[in-house]
Amino acid sequence: MSIVRSNAKPVVAGLLMVLVNLFAIAEEGEREKLPPLHHVVDVAVPDGMSVPEAFPLSADGHIVCKTCHGIEGIEELPFDEVDRDAPEFHRGGPYRRLTDFCYRCHDEQAYRRPNIHELLDEQGGYDEKACEYCHRKAPDPKQERIRPDELELRLPSRKLCYGCHLKTPHLNALNHQVEPDEEMRKRIEQAEQAHGVILPLDPDGRITCVTCHTPHPRGVIDPERPAGKQVADTDLEEGITYREHPWDAVFREDKRERLARMAEEVGTRYTLTYRRLVKEVLLRLPAKDGTLCLACHEFER
Ligand code: HEC
Ligand code: HEC
Ligand code: HEC
Ligand code: HEC
Ligand code: HEC
Ligand code: HEC
Repeated sequence: MSIVRSNAKPVVAGLLMVLVNLFAIAEEGEREKLPPLHHVVDVAVPDGMSVPEAFPLSADGHIVCKTCHGIEGIEELPFDEVDRDAPEFHRGGPYRRLTDFCYRCHDEQAYRRPNIHELLDEQGGYDEKACEYCHRKAPDPKQERIRPDELELRLPSRKLCYGCHLKTPHLNALNHQVEPDEEMRKRIEQAEQAHGVILPLDPDGRITCVTCHTPHPRGVIDPERPAGKQVADTDLEEGITYREHPWDAVFREDKRERLARMAEEVGTRYTLTYRRLVKEVLLRLPAKDGTLCLACHEFER
């Protein structure tokens, strides 16, 4: 079932400029549970951690819902009524990166993950040890195309990114980890040809993070070659940036009813947000104009 296809017309005009982020939360029983990868709750603040004064703790000094969320009575609200885009959704927000919120309590120095994607030095050289964080042995970028099943990665590509990124780094990352049907596979091959890129599936034929993203910065692999061709209109330091889209509220209102109906049909709940991508990096094709999405999806025009 594809939300975009089933209601292509109203969505499509916006889709080519803007992205749809879709998040599915499986419902369990009557009472809504926290999402599977949610932060621990009702824990004491350990010695050495300082929680900002504006982050209220419970009477017994524990981290509770209101410590992190500035949304009144969030524990009572059904998830689809929680406005994730409210500035105070993460207390003290909005934050440009989720990690900036984490560092309000966790020590940034101790907590910062290395940006493993910054592989090249100023001369364009690299340290093979950095490659071997993911590869068993640093592959030679000059070699002809290496097939996915020939690459010896330390973890299956489907798991490679999880130590450092959330399973849902953005909202539809997880529900894309499926096997495309025959028709879509053909479209993918055509898009690879047309754009001179690779959109690799894992050895089991599934979409993974690296189908859409390249883990390497531009220049590790010759940008003239399909595996090296990528979008990079910003540097890694700055990362992908967004601008809030003024139509966001309208868009969600418009979709609310249809989403509620869908939730009933499939027993899954959806939340949509609408953001405009400004800068892109580590993507194989641009998403802000819809090119990436159209490599797999066919939208009615
Ligand atoms: C230590 C901070 C912290 C505490 C305490 C906390 N949360 Fe969260 N919560 C988060 C973060 C961070 C996210 C967003 C995760 C993401 O975007 O991947 C989140 C997301 C959510 C969401 C949105 C889920 C979704 O995916 O739409 C809800 C609802 C929520 N929290 C409810 C609660 C409730 C209810 C409590 C108390 C029982 C609570 N949270 C306690 C940090 C916290
Ligand atoms: C309001 C303060 C606060 C914020 C904000 C916060 N944390 Fe925590 N976090 C805690 C406390 C307190 C603990 C429990 C004590 C500990 O294990 O250090 C904890 C524990 C953790 C743990 C260990 C959990 C476990 O199961 O042992 C992880 C991982 C973590 N936080 C990640 C994050 C991430 C990622 C963010 C940002 C999305 C975040 N935290 C934001 C206070 C916070
Ligand atoms: C964060 C993990 C990660 C790091 C670090 C990494 N790679 Fe990769 N690499 C991958 C994954 C995943 C693939 C398979 C997907 C692809 O082809 O892009 C891959 C594929 C490749 C390929 C094959 C491309 C093709 O399809 O022909 C080459 C060559 C390569 N990497 C070279 C390097 C070099 C050189 C470095 C160090 C400068 C490096 N990689 C660092 C994850 C990584
Ligand atoms: C279907 C294509 C696709 C898949 C699969 C995908 N991504 Fe993304 N990713 C995107 C696009 C497009 C963006 C930029 C816009 C957005 O957030 O939707 C992005 C953005 C990101 C960002 C930056 C988010 C931010 O807010 O700064 C990270 C990190 C990321 N992806 C990691 C991952 C990881 C890890 C996986 C696998 C679990 C993954 N992506 C799977 C297309 C994809
Ligand atoms: C060793 C940790 C590590 C691993 C492994 C890793 N990343 Fe990252 N990645 C980072 C850090 C750190 C950043 C910088 C932004 C941040 O702090 O979230 C980043 C940034 C990104 C971004 C750009 C987002 C932005 O806005 O800067 C994308 C896309 C991304 N990673 C995708 C992937 C994919 C796909 C994989 C798996 C092949 C992967 N990463 C594996 C640490 C890692
Ligand atoms: C590599 C192929 C591929 C790319 C690229 C891709 N998708 Fe998908 N998408 C899929 C597959 C496979 C599914 C699941 C089957 C279906 O619904 O057709 C899916 C499902 C979806 C769904 C429905 C999710 C659900 O749970 O029903 C949405 C919405 C979506 N994609 C939007 C996008 C957007 C927006 C982009 C561009 C940022 C994009 N897709 C890029 C392959 C892709």
